[in-house]
Amino acid sequence: MADIGEDIVIAKQLLDSNGLVGIPTETVYGLAGNAFNEDAVLEIFKVKQRPSFDPLIVHAAGLDQIKSFVKEIPEQAELLVKELWPGPLTVLLKKNSEIPDLVTSGLDTVAVRVPRHPLTLSLLNSLDYPLAAPSANPFGYISPTKAIHVDQQLGDSINYILDGGDCHIGVESTIISFENDIPTILRLGGQPIERLKEMLGEVKINKHSSSQPDAPGMMKSHYAPSKKLILSSQSGSLKEYLAEEIGVLVFGQIHPEIPKFNQYVLSDIGSVDEAAKNLFSAMRELDQKSHIRIIIADAIPNTGLGKAINDRLKRASAE
Ligand code: TXA
Ligand code: MG
Repeated sequence: MADIGEDIVIAKQLLDSNGLVGIPTETVYGLAGNAFNEDAVLEIFKVKQRPSFDPLIVHAAGLDQIKSFVKEIPEQAELLVKELWPGPLTVLLKKNSEIPDLVTSGLDTVAVRVPRHPLTLSLLNSLDYPLAAPSANPFGYISPTKAIHVDQQLGDSINYILDGGDCHIGVESTIISFENDIPTILRLGGQPIERLKEMLGEVKINKHSSSQPDAPGMMKSHYAPSKKLILSSQSGSLKEYLAEEIGVLVFGQIHPEIPKFNQYVLSDIGSVDEAAKNLFSAMRELDQKSHIRIIIADAIPNTGLGKAINDRLKRASAE
């Protein structure tokens, strides 16, 4: 078990001595360490059991700090982040030698963002280095949206979790690249694409294969609960399950044929924002109920954060 608290001085002390700390962001909780220190970065990969080919996101206090460890910021990217940071948007930029190759898995770009959470922003402002922080879950599992989620899975490997309450957005940041001056989305996420299109015009959305992912968060089997998850559109053949064995991620009304305590309402008012906020903790909760063998996810409108939700559900349902 890790200590859980709101003390950024404790967090700073641990980070200054190259330890790791669980940190809240507006998207999901991160597992943070000094991005300039190779020992801290290696420890992140180890604690998360993350393959070394899957690069980390670097979190900074602001654009000025970022300018000290990247070679350049494309004009379009700068306009975008001046408008949307702090916020759930991660941008790939050409790194300089301040960022160890370990952080980027040898790539020449580094993924960076300024998170919009007051505690973590104060922490970042108190440090003289940025924080490398992947989502604070074991590799391949559902991202944590509460301090307790981090403790349940990584609490034995870290000393402290900074408790910033429930994450407001609930899905990971949107990742965008400006390679060859073409804005390209590598991961749908907390920054709705509609807003990006408003600011950038057309943006490309990358389709990834899991063998050569530009952003391995795009791997098909990511964000998965350990139970089988299916989309309601595929729920034709549920005959082999008893009603008690079926869990439901509900969008709208609960399903009358399934026990109520097997159902987790993401939103009963049709709000995709509310559904995003509840998504990962609902998946976790149903995953932890031992009598449930299969989870069905209701259809979610494919607009705003609904796009990121549908992306996560599709990946979680991939075999
Ligand atoms: O909202 C978020 O982004 C959260 C919070 C903690 O900030 N972080 C997060 O990190 O989701 P992680 O490590 O779980 O996902 C980061 C994704 C990975 O899929 C990784 O492959 C991709 O970003 N990535 C990182 N650096 C990259 C790079 N240089 N080029 C392409 N993809 C990169
Ligand atoms: Mg992750």
